[in-house]
Amino acid sequence: MNYRHAFHAGNFADCVKHALLVWLLGAMARKPRPFFVLDTHAGAGEAVLDAGPAARTGEWRGGIGRLRDDPPEVLAPYLDLVRPAFAAVPSRYPGSPRLIRALLRPGDRLAACELHPEDAAALRRAFRGDRQVQVHQRDGWEALGALLPPPERRGLILIDPPYEAADEFDRLTAALVAAHGRFPSGVFAAWYPIKHRAPVRRFLTAMQESGLRDIVAAELWLRAPLDPVRLNGCGLLVVNPPYRFAEEVAPILDALLDRLGERGTGEGTALTRIVDE
Ligand SMILES: C[S@@+](CC[C@H](N)C(=O)[O-])C[C@H]1O[C@@H](n2cnc3c(N)ncnc32)[C@H](O)[C@@H]1O
Repeated sequence: MNYRHAFHAGNFADCVKHALLVWLLGAMARKPRPFFVLDTHAGAGEAVLDAGPAARTGEWRGGIGRLRDDPPEVLAPYLDLVRPAFAAVPSRYPGSPRLIRALLRPGDRLAACELHPEDAAALRRAFRGDRQVQVHQRDGWEALGALLPPPERRGLILIDPPYEAADEFDRLTAALVAAHGRFPSGVFAAWYPIKHRAPVRRFLTAMQESGLRDIVAAELWLRAPLDPVRLNGCGLLVVNPPYRFAEEVAPILDALLDRLGERGTGEGTALTRIVDE
């Protein structure tokens, strides 16, 4: 486990993932019945930006740094959650578990899984005494089998692996199929990197052939996805997207690209239906 998210916290890919995550949580909260969220690869919960790993890469400057300087209205639900930590000294950026927790209603629940001992310990500290959040230092892939289906029978599952292993897309495909088998009505959201097109195309084709239905992919790329060793863009694959996903997420992607894009270098966004309902 070499990947440490602290180096990348608040970068453009985090902003895309988190803005869409906030939209998904808002959609879950449209119905009064309590819901469960499983964050399979949760990270440390928060990162300091102006010291340590994030300061060393400076990636956040091309992500949340730009959104802070010029916040688009359509991103307000996401940026309003980020702003207090970002304005603090030292500046911080909340990870997925903190964003999720901020949008739970009384009665909703989060299970956050993180395998790295230091990050899991930080998560435990962050949520100590919080009865709506369970932190597990465990394998998130294995948790999909153990924690689904939830007793609430309503749930959002965020799968955000580090893509360190060469077969991570294959693992994700198999995990989605198995987890969907256990919890067919769950909303599954899986983040993926876009470096060059070939692996992404293979993944989306595998999802088309998986037998699962109702799948969309939301993507944003900063430059033409041609360099296989550079993170040129990212996507979120959603199985069972909530009502009006495409209509409401399209302007969010456009606003993100407007602030984060590199202008005229093959940048773009796409909302693609991978499998019909
Ligand atoms: C991309 S980061 C997660 C970022 C977080 N979801 C967010 O949005 O703020 C991936 C995390 O997965 C953790 N990890 C790696 N393999 C794991 C596994 N098998 N199960 C659970 N966590 C794992 C890494 O330590 C890392 O913190």
